[in-house]
Amino acid sequence: MGYCGWLLLPCLLWSSLIVGSHQLQSSQTQVLLQLRKHLEFPNQLEIWNDHRIDFCYISSSAQANVSCQDNFVTELRIIGDKPSKIDNFVGLVIPNQTLSENFSMDSFVVTLARLTNLRVLSLVSLGIWGPLPDKIHRLSSLEYLDLSSNYLFGSVPPKISKMVKLQTLTLDDNFFNDTVPNWFDSLSNLKILRLKNNQLKGRFPSSVQRITTLTDLVLSSNEISGKLPNLDALSNLHLLDVSGNNLDSKLPSIPKGLVTVFLSNNSFSGEIPHQYSQLSQLQRLDMSFNELSGTPPASIFALPNITYLNLASNMLSGSLPNQLSCGSKLQFVDISNNSFTGGLPHCLRTESDDRVVKFGGNCLSIGLRHQRAASSCMAMPVKQKKSGGKDVGIVVGVAAGILFVLVLLALGFLLVCRRYCPRGMSEQHLLHKVVQENSAAGLSSEILTGAKFISQAEKLVTQDLPACRSFTLEELKEATKNFDNSAILGEGSYGKLYKGRLENGTQVAIRCLPSSKKYSFRNLKLRLDLLAKLRHPHLVCLLGHCIDNGGQDYRVNKVFLIFEYISNGNFQTYLYENSSGKVLDWSERLTVLIGVAKAVHFLHTGVIPGFFNNRLKTNNILLSDHGIAKLSDYGLSIISEEIANCGERGDGLESRQMTRVEDDVYSFGFILLESLVGPSVSGRKDKLLLNALASCNSPDSHRKLINPIVLATCSQESLSIVLSITNKCICSESWSRPSFEDILWNLQYAAQIQATADGSKI
Ligand SMILES: *[C@@H]1O[C@H](CO)[C@@H](O)[C@H](O)[C@H]1NC(C)=O
Ligand SMILES: *[C@@H]1O[C@H](CO)[C@@H](O)[C@H](O)[C@H]1NC(C)=O
Ligand SMILES: *[C@@H]1O[C@H](CO)[C@@H](O)[C@H](O)[C@H]1NC(C)=O
Ligand SMILES: *[C@@H]1O[C@H](CO)[C@@H](O)[C@H](O)[C@H]1NC(C)=O
Ligand SMILES: *[C@@H]1O[C@H](CO)[C@@H](O)[C@H](O)[C@H]1NC(C)=O
Ligand SMILES: *[C@@H]1O[C@H](CO)[C@@H](O)[C@H](O)[C@H]1NC(C)=O
Ligand SMILES: *[C@@H]1O[C@H](CO)[C@@H](O)[C@H](O)[C@H]1NC(C)=O
Repeated sequence: MGYCGWLLLPCLLWSSLIVGSHQLQSSQTQVLLQLRKHLEFPNQLEIWNDHRIDFCYISSSAQANVSCQDNFVTELRIIGDKPSKIDNFVGLVIPNQTLSENFSMDSFVVTLARLTNLRVLSLVSLGIWGPLPDKIHRLSSLEYLDLSSNYLFGSVPPKISKMVKLQTLTLDDNFFNDTVPNWFDSLSNLKILRLKNNQLKGRFPSSVQRITTLTDLVLSSNEISGKLPNLDALSNLHLLDVSGNNLDSKLPSIPKGLVTVFLSNNSFSGEIPHQYSQLSQLQRLDMSFNELSGTPPASIFALPNITYLNLASNMLSGSLPNQLSCGSKLQFVDISNNSFTGGLPHCLRTESDDRVVKFGGNCLSIGLRHQRAASSCMAMPVKQKKSGGKDVGIVVGVAAGILFVLVLLALGFLLVCRRYCPRGMSEQHLLHKVVQENSAAGLSSEILTGAKFISQAEKLVTQDLPACRSFTLEELKEATKNFDNSAILGEGSYGKLYKGRLENGTQVAIRCLPSSKKYSFRNLKLRLDLLAKLRHPHLVCLLGHCIDNGGQDYRVNKVFLIFEYISNGNFQTYLYENSSGKVLDWSERLTVLIGVAKAVHFLHTGVIPGFFNNRLKTNNILLSDHGIAKLSDYGLSIISEEIANCGERGDGLESRQMTRVEDDVYSFGFILLESLVGPSVSGRKDKLLLNALASCNSPDSHRKLINPIVLATCSQESLSIVLSITNKCICSESWSRPSFEDILWNLQYAAQIQATADGSKI
């Protein structure tokens, strides 16, 4: 017992305290007292203070029990008052929650192992922290081991596989974060295996298939991925709970004796097997929050013992027969958030106290109030046809929910579009090109003069915005304290931006554009007038302009654009947590994105000629006091030297390719991405990002990529739609990117789905 050497001192100390004789071997008593010290004298063990009583004969309590046999402790159960409640434990002591820094898991287990005859050990909510040492296997008589609700982390020690007498192994609510072990089949007597609520990773441990003694298998709320194997051999299995993992296979058939089956919150796909309608013992079945499709077998509603059936938030479709029969014990049915059509079966329609039925968020023709808007029920198939290409069709079709399959498909799509691009131009490409070349940037005075709104409606909406006027240079100097450095808001490729206050008190933002030698005074004036026509609720309003010609008619020194001042900062600062202000949740992000997409759609199609190169960036999206998104720095390409020059410089080819690659849709794709991932993305365009998406082939890595606030507030379906459209926007071939009309449609659809999800949460 070399390892006990250093324990000698406390051993002696304790033995000197113990007076009188005990039934229990005094060494066993000493061990118990040492354990109490290791556990830092929990209140639950106060009764052990009285050394005159035999611990074996202390009457059992709710908090602590000791049983003995032949003067040896065989059973030790303590329930403390330190449940592990925190979300994230990094292995460091937390005052009042974990035991102190003085606690050593290793010496604690060494002490425990001296209770050589222990058969039952249950130490729950005691703040025990650290990695569970391999030495635990020295308790070779253990049949029952429960260490749940502590702060254990690292791996589940492989030596536990040697504790062959174990019948129950419960490690729920800890922080085990290594891969889930696959040696459980060594425990040939195991009946109950519970590892709920840890952070175990890796593939589903297929070895459990062979533990035929198993009655309860609970692996929920971990990060287990891969395939749920066929567990048919487990004929004693009553409880199967694998919910809240990343399992992504089709559903296998499951053992007939099952009473409770929880499969929710995974990525199971495919149809619900018909075998499930033969589970005659089944009482509770939860398959919600997966990606199941098809129509469920009607007979699962009629199972003889079923009380609880949850199919919510899948992609189930079709209609349930009106004559569907319900099991007599059925108390709760949830089929909400699917795509069921037709009527609600008769037996689900009766609202009574003994049966709760939830069916909202479907396309049923009953109780329309709670059903999805007809457009979202109908629109998907229509959309599929419209988007033409087969791969696009697949991606759109699946958009309804398969999160990571979607990313894969979108990548596939990227590959396909990359392959097909060089084969010449599609019609779409040509059209796109013609439109772009006809854009405002390169137009003659005649066309500029004739520029007009396409939609009068747009004009009406914006009628109450102030009219655009000319400013004098003096006015601007006064507003900005003679362009004082303190008034500078920022500086970009379009020149400096100043903040100013006009005589009447209005705050304005003044953009000072570098001199342009390219346009005559008259041509420039026409261009500015055209810019002034761009009025939209989601565009920062241009209040006016000022041309500084240094007193000469033919030369333009500088151009100033005077915009309304938007005080609430830009979209980018609302995307991540370290800004002191508010972080936008998913539906708020969607609202901003929809606003901007509307504005860009207007810039592209609402005026002739269209404005196509708007340099879209998250920090050009400003938020008004009322949280309305407003795009700034739009349309500047028609007066800016920099962009107008691109085609004329020596390195023209490259620049032109760049402008084609980085069109508005592409840039908007990155805005979408920033909204999903956070601002870190803006620097690493293209390759790095595509790599990141490529590695994003499981919901797990997906979670790592997507901003946590988004993850916490989005519905899966809504997120997938946006992910899919994002992928299309940043496709490297401009012709295969979607139009803003498409983008807008998808964003609005995603917002609608999110609203349904949020609405029904209340
Ligand atoms: C101790 O035993 C009693 C009776 O068997 C039981 O009710 C109680 O829950 C046990 N306490 C612990 C901590 O297991
Ligand atoms: C498990 O968690 C501990 C403590 O937070 C950490 O030090 C360790 O690196 C983690 N291990 C794995 C495999 O994630
Ligand atoms: C810990 O708990 C004690 C008593 O419940 C309390 O007085 C003390 O403030 C707590 N300490 C911390 C750091 O929460
Ligand atoms: C930890 O041990 C040191 C030295 O034995 C002691 O002074 C300290 O009070 C202990 N801390 C706690 C929280 O028990
Ligand atoms: C499954 O997800 C839903 C919604 O996200 C949540 O309310 C529920 O607690 C989750 N269940 C499990 C077992 O993770
Ligand atoms: C299931 O129902 C059958 C017949 O209705 C009954 O014999 C059996 O005991 C039930 N099983 C359970 C676990 O309730
Ligand atoms: C739909 O899904 C949301 C979460 O996405 C959930 O809160 C709600 O209960 C579900 N049911 C209905 C009827 O919408």
